[in-house]
Amino acid sequence: MKSNISVNLNGISSFVGEEELNRLTVSAIEHLVTLRESRGRGSEFTGWLRLPDSAVNETATVKACAARLRSQAPVTVVVGIGGSYLGARALTEALNDPFAQQEHRLLFAGHTLSEDYHDALLKYLHGTAYNIVVISKSGTTTEPAIAFRILRDHLRNKIGTAVMQSHIVAITDAGRGALHDLAVKEGYETFVIPDDVGGRYSVLTPVGLLPLALAGYDIDSFARGMLDMALSVREGNDTAENIALIYAAARNALYNKGYSTEILISYEPSLVFLAEWWKQLYGESEGKESKGIFPASVTFTTDLHSMGQYIQQGERKLFETVIHVADSRNRLVVPGATDNSDGIGFIAGKRMTEVNHKAEAGTRLAHIDGGVPVMLVSMERIDEYNLGQLMYFFELACAISGYVLGVNPFDQPGVESYKKNMFALLGKPGFEAERQRLEQLLLDKQ
Ligand code: PA5
Repeated sequence: MKSNISVNLNGISSFVGEEELNRLTVSAIEHLVTLRESRGRGSEFTGWLRLPDSAVNETATVKACAARLRSQAPVTVVVGIGGSYLGARALTEALNDPFAQQEHRLLFAGHTLSEDYHDALLKYLHGTAYNIVVISKSGTTTEPAIAFRILRDHLRNKIGTAVMQSHIVAITDAGRGALHDLAVKEGYETFVIPDDVGGRYSVLTPVGLLPLALAGYDIDSFARGMLDMALSVREGNDTAENIALIYAAARNALYNKGYSTEILISYEPSLVFLAEWWKQLYGESEGKESKGIFPASVTFTTDLHSMGQYIQQGERKLFETVIHVADSRNRLVVPGATDNSDGIGFIAGKRMTEVNHKAEAGTRLAHIDGGVPVMLVSMERIDEYNLGQLMYFFELACAISGYVLGVNPFDQPGVESYKKNMFALLGKPGFEAERQRLEQLLLDKQ
């Protein structure tokens, strides 16, 4: 099956030996089989593996809901955090024209506790009709719960309880949880996040699809991209040619050599949130049991003028994964100038993408020279289909990579620690002793 994504390891060949790579590829192949046969750690959360096989047949209800919401209001606020937020944000930011007046505007809430952010949002919403799509698998995550309370009150005051119900859609667990119960009680339209799909692997459920459809994008094409990549890397490809295996093996080989920070790099500012999504996927999946590559990201050439110095000459524990986008959606040529006072006459007549690609190639060579291994992940262009391929590729590679590392890539026990402390400090009933202890600690530290 067709894969539009390719992985090139030339830029790491002087940093890791072929033998080590082969050894880890064999391990990755074994773990792909384990994953497919649901025999690995956390296998109860591997439903995402096969989501592409059914998603293409299930987009109709999502599209119908999006059409209804779009006909009701020009704005939808999507409320969610982590895996219930980043996929939708990554996709819509990647596809949006940043300066165009959007036919339907998506705004995000509940991904921060900032009072100023939410206050500014409410001020904007005073002047417009809007819908709310609230996304939470557990239904009890504090940030979206607070934002949803605030927005629901605002919407109720604005349009009244009876009308409000048709302006809210909840995406949550099939049968339990606070959000599920509230949605049933208040009669919101609902979509289900399957039990066996964790947040960071949920972009192909309504969690990612409904916001994408609301923003006016082709969710069938996105689902087809995911399916084609699934057929390419998940099925019948237990060979060293499988790009998910190549990537998973290579990053573990680098990690074993002491390269403990991976920087995802793109040369397109529209991919900033794709990198945020990728960081959550890899950080939450692998960072546990005192192990794991630290996932970071930069956008070049912008950040060559800030982080470029560190990457070129700072501590040598970094490696890079560069997302190469072969073609841009539009054409723009550098114009000639009679005086050439800026000294860039030699670039005149070239497309900006050509200049961007030369910057990318030059930077890659400089970083390799400077002691930074560089992998290249190439995609044809930024559209729904290719993003579907890219995201499934990263998801599968992440699961395999986590198994190669020896962790459960589907849990996130560490996320609970801050929540416990926050609840105690906020005075949640039952946390009294813990509150006292923490307050004392805060005093001692001051
Ligand atoms: O990937 C994950 O599981 C997490 O990032 C969750 O998506 C995030 O914590 C939000 O959880 P919930 O959807 O339960 O509100």
